[in-house]
Amino acid sequence: MSEEMTEPEICQVRQGIRQKYDRVAAAGAGGCFQYPTGKAGMDLQGYPPEVIGDFPPEVLATFCGVGNPFSLGPLNPGEAVLDIGCGAGVDSLVAGHLVGAGGRVVGLDVTPAMIERARAHQARLGLANVTFQVGEAEALPFPDHDFDAVISNGVFNLTLNKEKALKETHRVLKPGGRLLLADMVLMAALPPDRAGRVENWFQ
Ligand SMILES: C[S@@+](CC[C@H](N)C(=O)[O-])C[C@H]1O[C@@H](n2cnc3c(N)ncnc32)[C@H](O)[C@@H]1O
Repeated sequence: MSEEMTEPEICQVRQGIRQKYDRVAAAGAGGCFQYPTGKAGMDLQGYPPEVIGDFPPEVLATFCGVGNPFSLGPLNPGEAVLDIGCGAGVDSLVAGHLVGAGGRVVGLDVTPAMIERARAHQARLGLANVTFQVGEAEALPFPDHDFDAVISNGVFNLTLNKEKALKETHRVLKPGGRLLLADMVLMAALPPDRAGRVENWFQ
C-alpha cells in the first residue's frame, strides 16, 4: 500500500505503469507479461468463443487480463456496466455484447494510450453501447449508484490506494449491484532479494 511508500517511489510506480501500458497499447501484450495474454490467455480463461470469435486478432492481441470476470456471474441484457482498468477494451467489448443494445458499458483506464486503442477497437467492432474514458480507479468520475455491475481484470493490484478504489467501486454500484473482479494476490512473502522493489509493481 502507498502508506509504506515514499513520494518519489509513488511517482516512480505511476511512471512505470504508464510506460508499460503505453508499450502494450502500441505493440500488444505479447512478451510484456509473465502469464498468457492475448487470445491464448482468453482461451485458457474460458472466454465464450461465440463472442470473441468475431473479434479481430489485433483486438484480442491486446488482452492482458489475469482471469475471466465473466465466469463469476452473468451480465444481463439492459444492464449498465463499468470496466475499471479496461486497457485496450477487450472485456468492455465482451460486456457490450452481453448487455446488448439496451445496455451500456463504460471502460475506464488511467493510461490515455490504452483508451485511444480501446476507442479504435470499439469503432472497428461498431458496438455503439460501449464508450471509453480516461480516469483513475481511486477517483471514479461517475455519480453514486450509476452501475448494475463493475468488472475489473488485473487492475486492483496496480492501484496505489486499494481501500479508496474499493470504496469508489461500492459508491458507483447500485444497491445490490455486483463486482466481478479478477486479480492477482501474493500468497506468500516475496524472497528478500525481490521484496520492496518498486519494479515489482510493473513487471
Ligand atoms: C493488466 S492490464 C489489464 C487491462 C484489461 N483489464 C485487460 O484485461 O486487458 C492493467 C490496466 O490497468 C490500468 N491501470 C493501472 N492502474 C490504474 C488505476 N489506478 N486506475 C485505472 N486504471 C489503472 C493500466 O493502465 C492497464 O491498462
